[in-house]
Amino acid sequence: MSPFQLTRTLPLDATGAALRADVLAGLLHSPKTLPPKWFYDARGSALFDEITTLPEYYPTRAEREILQTRAAEIAAATGARTLIELGSGSSEKTRHLIDALADLHTYVPVDVSESALTGAANTLIASRPSLNVHALIADFTRGLALPGTPRPRLVAFLGGTIGNLLPAERSAFLASVRTLLSPGDALLLGTDLVKEESVLVSAYDDGSGVTASFNKNVLHVINRELGADFDPDAFSHVAVWDREHEWIEMRLRSLVAQTVKIPALELAVDFERHEEMRTEISAKFREEGVRSELAAAGLKLTHWWTDERARFALSLSVAR
Ligand code: SAH
Ligand code: AVI
Repeated sequence: MSPFQLTRTLPLDATGAALRADVLAGLLHSPKTLPPKWFYDARGSALFDEITTLPEYYPTRAEREILQTRAAEIAAATGARTLIELGSGSSEKTRHLIDALADLHTYVPVDVSESALTGAANTLIASRPSLNVHALIADFTRGLALPGTPRPRLVAFLGGTIGNLLPAERSAFLASVRTLLSPGDALLLGTDLVKEESVLVSAYDDGSGVTASFNKNVLHVINRELGADFDPDAFSHVAVWDREHEWIEMRLRSLVAQTVKIPALELAVDFERHEEMRTEISAKFREEGVRSELAAAGLKLTHWWTDERARFALSLSVAR
């Protein structure tokens, strides 16, 4: 039997308290906004996994292609004994890395989604019985207390999830990742790349409506956790390319003028007809931008790999 440990570093009530604080701040903000980390209850995590199989959603396939092609090079460059993965989700693509890391001692998947972590750990344990898996339920934006496992460490942040952070959040996040790295450790970062608008918009507004359900899932989460009465059918899914910021913005547009009650916040919020609330940004990157954001955090980019069609990049960086 594989050694498996699940550690909760969020206090049991932290999710509720953080959700209340985020929803209150976001709905009182003009324009209204909600942070994307609240998409990922069990249903949201399952919807995200479905998104990764959609014909329009290329990032997962492109990143998997790079991992398949470059896993041996990543293993040779890092010699990692501990692999820490932030926002690990299903850990599905990570298996290419795990297989290539010959000296790997412990895998530490970190996610706010307990269902994603337990699902991923169960699958991994079945297929890699000798691997130590120390799963952490934690918010990667809030500073991590990592287990004392052997170095070198490889911190992986895949999927392009860094693009879901706003620029100021990104720089704070990269600076905190830098503090996890000692000489010999490395960061493996997945970034989706700037490309043609129609390709980007289709990836976030798929024909089968799965991304729309994923987007509206945040309303189900707020209804369940805060007793709110959002009617998800009274909102439509919107995905637009913001050319200036080079990010996709997902929004929920109120189809009618309506008032939503949120008893846990003792709040009633008015939406105008066609008012839009931002629920996610998904920033797209260029090599120079990634290099300079890493440098600003004290990290030096050492490798840059893309898929054959240059849609997505994986980069390796080390502490300077
Ligand atoms: N890395 C996987 C999953 C990406 S989906 C892939 O490439 O397919 C984004 C994941 O990050 C989800 O599993 C979500 O639960 C997690 N997540 C989002 N915000 C987070 C946060 N602040 N802290 C920890 N995990 C977070
Ligand atoms: C997790 N993250 C990188 C996804 C993305 O592409 O920004 C989340 C997502 N949102 C809509 N579709 C997928």
